Amino acid sequence: MKRLGILLSGRGSNFEAIADSVEAGKIDASIGLVISNRAEARGLERARERGLKALCIPSRGLDREVYDRLLIEELRRENIDLVCLAGYMRLLSAAFIREYPLRILNIHPSLLPAFPGLDAQHQAVDYGVKISGCTVHFVDEHLDAGPIILQAAVPVLDSDTAGTLSERILKEEHRIYPEAIQIVLSGNFEIRGRQVILERSL
Ligand code: GRF
Repeated sequence: MKRLGILLSGRGSNFEAIADSVEAGKIDASIGLVISNRAEARGLERARERGLKALCIPSRGLDREVYDRLLIEELRRENIDLVCLAGYMRLLSAAFIREYPLRILNIHPSLLPAFPGLDAQHQAVDYGVKISGCTVHFVDEHLDAGPIILQAAVPVLDSDTAGTLSERILKEEHRIYPEAIQIVLSGNFEIRGRQVILERSL
């Protein structure tokens, strides 16, 4: 059975969607470890309530390479196969990415490559796009830039604020993140350049 490691910094609703899918047998893996860089992250508390191993490793004041070595140590200890970033608000070092090649996933609340970085929903509303959404992608050394596994689109309404748009996008995040994790775990995909070709279309 494959083991997932979840990195988060806050609310943890994507983590909960993943944990629900694991419990429902829709993801063929177990959650071996949840790590937060912030002690106050609600996701940590939720993980503990579910009886999962959940650690806080505070990142404040630590050099990125040093911090990431601590993460790698814990993930190795738990024999983690796939790392899922779920609202993890830190960039990963090249050394971390090398440790888990094509085995780190992220979810981002926009249709990448539009609106990478912070406050993607705000960026979308400000720009005036009519459609936005979310993206699950492999993590590489660039911000919000690795090969795309799944995306889902939602309309942007004239009346939307960043908050109302975020809610609409979040529902889709909770649907496609578990689905993308299962695709990656199953190995039913091929990567050609930037393209992730899913089994159903091979
Ligand atoms: C989500 O919008 C996700 O796309 C982004 O950070 C937010 C995390 O929310 N990367 P949650 O902590 O999973 O509720």
